[in-house]
Parts: sequence; C-alpha cells; structure tokens
Amino acid sequence: MERKNILVTGGMGYIGSHTVIKLVEYGYNPIIIDNLANSSEKVLPRLEKITGTKIAFYKGDVCNREDVDKVLSENKIDAVIHFAGLKAVGESVQKPVEYYRNNLDSTLTLLEEMPKYGVKNIIFSSSATVYGTPTHVPLVESDPIGQATNPYGQTKIIQEGIFQDYCHVHPDFNVALLRYFNPIGAHASGLIGEAPNGIPNNLMPYVTQVAVGKRDHLSIFGDDYNTPDGTCIRDYIHVVDLAEGHVLTLKKLFENPGLVIYNLGTGKGTSVLELVHAYEKATGVKIPYVIAPRRAGDVEANYAATDKAEREIGFKAKYTVEDSCRDSNHWQQMNPNGYED
Ligand code: NAD
Ligand code: UD1
Repeated sequence: MERKNILVTGGMGYIGSHTVIKLVEYGYNPIIIDNLANSSEKVLPRLEKITGTKIAFYKGDVCNREDVDKVLSENKIDAVIHFAGLKAVGESVQKPVEYYRNNLDSTLTLLEEMPKYGVKNIIFSSSATVYGTPTHVPLVESDPIGQATNPYGQTKIIQEGIFQDYCHVHPDFNVALLRYFNPIGAHASGLIGEAPNGIPNNLMPYVTQVAVGKRDHLSIFGDDYNTPDGTCIRDYIHVVDLAEGHVLTLKKLFENPGLVIYNLGTGKGTSVLELVHAYEKATGVKIPYVIAPRRAGDVEANYAATDKAEREIGFKAKYTVEDSCRDSNHWQQMNPNGYED
C-alpha cells in the first residue's frame, strides 16, 4: 500500500521532531515545513540518522501563502499536523502582536490553502492552558474553556474556536484538537530533545541545566500551595508518548469523525518536589534547589482525565516520570548546549 504523506508544520521543533520519528515508525511519510524560528537545521540529519530514511524538509513560513502552496502543490498530502507556533508564555506578554500574527495567521493560511489541494485532515497542537484556572482535577475534554492569562494561551483558545467554526460549515473536514499537558523527556538516542534559548522558563529544561552545571540551583516557585507537599502539581508526559498520540489520532481522522478533542497526558499528577526527587533517583545527580516566591499566573494543580483518548484512539502513556527524567538528562548530557554543540 502507498504510504500516506503527512505534512508536519514545525516539524523541526521539540514535539514535531519526535513525532516525525513516530510517523516513520508507523509507515507514514512525513514532510516537514519549518521556518527555523525556534529550531536548528541540525535536527534534520539527526532525524535521518535515527529513522534511517531521507526526510523531506521545506524551509518555509506557514504564514506565507506561497511557501504553503509550494509544499501542498508538490506533494499529495493526506493530513497535516500543525505544530508550528510561538510558545513562550513570558515572551508572548512582551510581544503580543508577534504571537497573534504568527499563531493565528499560520492556522488561517492552512485553512485557506488546504481545501485548494483537497486536504481534509488536520491535527492541531493545543494546550491544557485552554482550561484556564481549573476548578477541579482531573480535567475532562467537556470542561469549559477558561480565561487565558497571557497572549500565548489566548492564541490557543482562539485557534480552537477557528477550527470549531470552520468544521461547523465544512462537515467533511476532520480536525483533532490535542490538548497537551506538560511534555518532557527526549528520544532515547539522546540525539534530539528540548533546546530552549536562554534561561529556560519551564521546569524540566531548567532542572537538566542544573544537572549539567550550567545553572547553580533550581528555584521552586512556591511551597505554600494547597497540595500534599505545598508545590504545584502537573501532568508530565514523555514526548515520545505524546508523539505516539498523534499517530493514533491520525488513524481516527482517516475514519472521518469531524471534530474531535483529546487530552494528551498521563492522568497522573506530579508535584515539583516529586519531579526533582524522581530526577535524582533516575539519574543519581543531585539537584540543589531553593524555595522562591510563587510565579504569577501559575495554577495550583492540573492533570488530565485520559479516559476519552484511551477509549477512542487507544492512547495510554507508557513512560513514567522517572523514564522521562532519565531521557531528558541523557539528552542534556550529550548536548550541554542543545544543538549549538
Ligand atoms: P517548538 O518551538 O520546539 O516547535 C515549534 C516549531 O515551529 C519550531 O521549530 C519553529 O521554528 C516552528 N515555527 C514557528 N512558527 C512558524 C511558522 N510561522 N512557520 C513555520 N514554522 C514555524 O515548540 P514545541 O514545544 O515543539 O511545541 C509545538 C506546538 O505544541 C506549539 O504549537 C506549542 O504551542 C504547542 N504546545 C507545546 C507545549 C510544550 O510544553 N512544549 C505545550 C502545549 C502546547
Ligand atoms: C507553562 C505555561 C503554560 C504552557 C506550558 C508549556 C505559565 C504560567 N504556564 O506551564 O501556559 O502551556 O508552560 O509551555 O507559564 N517551576 C519551578 N521552577 C522553575 C520552572 C517551573 O518551580 O524554574 C514550576 C512552576 O511553578 C510549575 C511547574 O514547575 O508549578 C511546571 O512549570 P512549567 O514547566 O513552566 O509548566 P506550566 O507552568 O505547567
């Protein structure tokens, strides 16, 4: 049978690159478009080394109609996985226009271009951030959309709305909104992983940089939350599990379901202190930390109900938090400066 072509926007980035590997493993043909705004061209040869396959890459901007047109006209695309977007919460507060322009324009451009080439299936990278401040956990897909506390979160809420409105009038179009919880970990090869610019905002990359001695210690933002050890609780999912969730979702889209929404998490909450201890146990590396004030905008506890994804697409996270810590550490040890080495 002919392999299906999957256009992966943002496929050179953290989650996209791991998904490209899974696509090859499952017999799909991934085709990447990425403008390298937040990724390195060094990812491509590493993907080819891991998969043992040549991977098609278009350097292009998904907001640019000609760039999207080129890749869609040169390949018969069966589905799009749309990872491309800007994702730094703090930066989005400083540069709201860039965030709205890039994240909304990329989605609108795809929705205008895809029909011209008969492409009817798309997976969109949404986020647990759309639930806002949870009134309960675990979070269920039918829970109401919350209030965004920053432009990044607002772009995800608006993009979800755009897809919903589009599907309303195009019943033959299939969209999966995947709400990711907290992706961590890296491919077991240590060849690809998360490579943030500058000081990491997110917990795991900060911890890995402490582990390799690039930072003195971790600051834990608040230990006075109403949780068992006082630190915030999140649902940390291994990026390879998350990648697999996309491939399982593709199968669902090809059954013509219209619009579907799935949480992609483990269903298990882990506190900041638990994560630090898991890291120490998995790697044998001590992570010095201090307790710092709460970070503005943080929610106390947030984890996914995973029943729907398990029932409808057979998704179940396989890796533990310790597995993720081991793999994040391996990546950082092999690449202390990310892709700059
Ligand atoms: P990433 O920054 O590593 O990857 C995004 C990729 O998109 C980068 O390679 C970047 O160069 C590219 N890109 C950005 N704008 C583009 C454009 N206009 N045209 C072409 N390429 C463009 O981020 P990631 O962590 O892999 O996240 C992927 C998606 O998942 C994003 O949409 C993000 O908002 C979403 N998401 C991420 C997380 C997380 O914690 N990492 C959580 C929830 C949702
Ligand atoms: C953050 C964003 C969220 C975004 C997600 C993925 C905020 C408020 N939320 O989620 O919108 O979708 O990243 O990009 O920015 N922590 C520390 N010390 C650190 C870093 C983090 O204690 O140096 C704590 C945080 O307070 C939080 C937990 O670790 O309790 C996880 O933080 P992080 O990795 O930034 O993810 P989220 O806050 O869940």
